[in-house]
Amino acid sequence: MMKSHWSRREFLSFMGRTAGATAVALPVMSCSGTDPDAALAGISPVAPGTDDEVVLADGLGYDLLVSWPEQINGKGERFGFNNDYTAFFPIDGNPHDGLLWVNHEEVLSGYFASPGDPEEKSREDVEREVLEVGGSIIRISRQGGRWRLVRNDRFNRRISGATRIPIISEQPIAGSRTAVGTLGNCAGGVTPWQTVLTCEENFHFFYGDVSFDTGERVHEKSRLIGWDRYLYHPPEHYGWVVEVDPFTGAANKLTALGRFAHEGATVTLARDGRAVVYMGDDKTDEHIYKFVGGEPGSLARGALYVADTDQGRWLPLDVAGDTRLQQAFGSQTELLVRTREAAKLVGATPQDRPEDIEIDPQTGAVFISLTKHKERPFGSILKLVEKDGDPSAQEFAASTFLAGGPETGFACPDNLVFDPRGNLWMCTDIASYEINEPPYDSFPSNGLFHIPMSGMHAGVPVQVAYAPPGAELTGPTFSPDGRTLFLSVQHPGENSDSTDALDSHWPDGGDALPRPGVICVSGPLLDQLTAV
Ligand code: FEO
Ligand code: CA
Ligand code: CA
Repeated sequence: MMKSHWSRREFLSFMGRTAGATAVALPVMSCSGTDPDAALAGISPVAPGTDDEVVLADGLGYDLLVSWPEQINGKGERFGFNNDYTAFFPIDGNPHDGLLWVNHEEVLSGYFASPGDPEEKSREDVEREVLEVGGSIIRISRQGGRWRLVRNDRFNRRISGATRIPIISEQPIAGSRTAVGTLGNCAGGVTPWQTVLTCEENFHFFYGDVSFDTGERVHEKSRLIGWDRYLYHPPEHYGWVVEVDPFTGAANKLTALGRFAHEGATVTLARDGRAVVYMGDDKTDEHIYKFVGGEPGSLARGALYVADTDQGRWLPLDVAGDTRLQQAFGSQTELLVRTREAAKLVGATPQDRPEDIEIDPQTGAVFISLTKHKERPFGSILKLVEKDGDPSAQEFAASTFLAGGPETGFACPDNLVFDPRGNLWMCTDIASYEINEPPYDSFPSNGLFHIPMSGMHAGVPVQVAYAPPGAELTGPTFSPDGRTLFLSVQHPGENSDSTDALDSHWPDGGDALPRPGVICVSGPLLDQLTAV
């Protein structure tokens, strides 16, 4: 299905404006095809609105690539619900043929699959929901200028809330070395050895959590999605980073990276070749973490740190090296299950809900979305610069890169991505029930922003898209040639109370139920800004 959002009239108008701008900018463009100021000359920013559509800046259009609940393979497996993070893996180095990993985070838009209130769910509802989360691996290829899902390709598969996944740990976790399913799969990362890291974020929505406040293990039941009404799996089996080989589907839960509401896991390399992973815990006043792998090419073992952003120090979370931690935890495995408690014991800095993290490919600086706090409701982007530019350093400098608010035109930053030219893109996630309400009354929708990192507009966000009602735009990934932006449209119509009063019908329109899906954004403006 083609949903081009730039009409012939708009396209010609865009080309006319671009031609005028180019006449002025030509001397610059002839020196550098990637001059940021020349590239920006063609943008007319999107004014945020409430249309039931993905509304894009002039010069951009989109195709719907895949959407819930399309069948993806001959086994009858279906593309899951509420797609989030995406990652692209070329096959045989071909930039136009590869595998797309897609996270499926949650089933909170309850009217799609089953009642939103866990008290009203049946066992059948829960068993159906279990198959909606986790991830999809789909083969996609670009032919005739358009990306398409290769349906029934041999690589196409689902990993879901029912898939048995080994737990990589020194000791069994809650008596087992195997977990049933992955869930809450929010953002993620890609390793240098071409595996995907899919992150279990709000795991407590599904099977609840465990508390050790009384000195005893107490199971606190889920109050939202509530699978624990019918199924029992230990909450300790969730809240991890899960590593998946997209070409084989092999998956492992990596306990060395800690257990918390993992938003994402962004990987770079230390000078000695070990992987370094930056991670945020998306909960109010929780923390930012860093993991340094024990040996190159593996995340099975290594050192976990938590950030003291006041003093610019990474604080080790190592039972063997800290008497406070020895007194609190019987082993490193126990510490990892209760990572948040360990972080507080060593004095980590509380944060404003850390979301996605990305690393500037030009400078190595680490950018962290802090989505919001009740005292700072518009959120900000934090910038960390490691000492001597070494990702495995113990010290860093922290500063605010951008603050959200009506003046800067964005609120609640979430997913980030650098494009192939080294400029930053940001998606926002104002909660659907807060959009258009104070203090977000100047924000009628969530958006996508382009943030140049050099030139005279450096650090100034430009809005280039807004999402349908109830939705956020998530999981931005650029194709290797920079000519396509894969983008998730997550939870359209989330705020609708019932199927009789839907506030979105995206992508089908009419009276249709809204359906989350992944779109491919392209067009002359993207070519101008990001193509390489
Ligand atoms: Fe799933 Fe923190 O966003
Ligand atoms: Ca997110
Ligand atoms: Ca979010």
